[in-house]
Amino acid sequence: MRRSLVAANWKMHGSLTHIQDFVTDFSAVDNVDVVIFPPVVYLQAMASSLPMSIYCGVQDIGTSASGPHTGEVAAEMVFEVGGAWAIVGHSERRIDQSEMDDLVATKAAAAVRGGLHPIICVGESLAEREAGHEIAVVEGQLEAVLDRLDVAQLARGAIAYEPVWAIGTGRTASPQQAQEMHAFIRDKVAHVDEVVASQMRILYGGSVSPDNAAALFAEEDIDGGLVGGASLDAGEFSAIIAIAGVAATAD
Ligand code: PGA
Repeated sequence: MRRSLVAANWKMHGSLTHIQDFVTDFSAVDNVDVVIFPPVVYLQAMASSLPMSIYCGVQDIGTSASGPHTGEVAAEMVFEVGGAWAIVGHSERRIDQSEMDDLVATKAAAAVRGGLHPIICVGESLAEREAGHEIAVVEGQLEAVLDRLDVAQLARGAIAYEPVWAIGTGRTASPQQAQEMHAFIRDKVAHVDEVVASQMRILYGGSVSPDNAAALFAEEDIDGGLVGGASLDAGEFSAIIAIAGVAATAD
């Protein structure tokens, strides 16, 4: 059985005061893995404020281990200061920084090289879904990763299905829409390695909240969530973790 994983993507939000307030009000449950992704400058402050059982990570990483790459941060550096996970390929980076599938795959490999667990984000835009291309888009994003990464390394991390039209919009994919894509992703990985596919966690992201989490997490192939807006509030985020814990017990 796959353990649930709930991750907080703080994006470019937060402050030292916010972290202090957050850790005071935050609570987790034993049967759910939790990772928090603050802005990279707050990684150590967050890691040292949280219990050891809660992991921290970065929202992006550079591809190299070191070198003349001004402004970049290496996975090895993140690992050294207590980070355990890295998000790669978030749609905001694919859009704002024009990150292409190949670069995302290289970053996933860099995360693994540096000892981190990657969360690899995939997902289609609204126009792509309306044109009926969502499966083809996600398939292309996945193939780039499967071409670059040893499939066993995928089991170390997770894939997050985040339809771009559901991120920060309050418009969640229905549990059926999400399940359909998650099943497709698992099946695609199963063509390469069935064991990895059955062990790999697939998270849903896009306006996850305490109101919709139970229905999403009840789906067979949804193993948790990558939570943006609702993760900034310790109460809401803790509620989502508790819901994941209940869903895992019901499996
Ligand atoms: P959201 O963000 O929960 O605010 O939609 C999710 C994400 O971008 O990872």
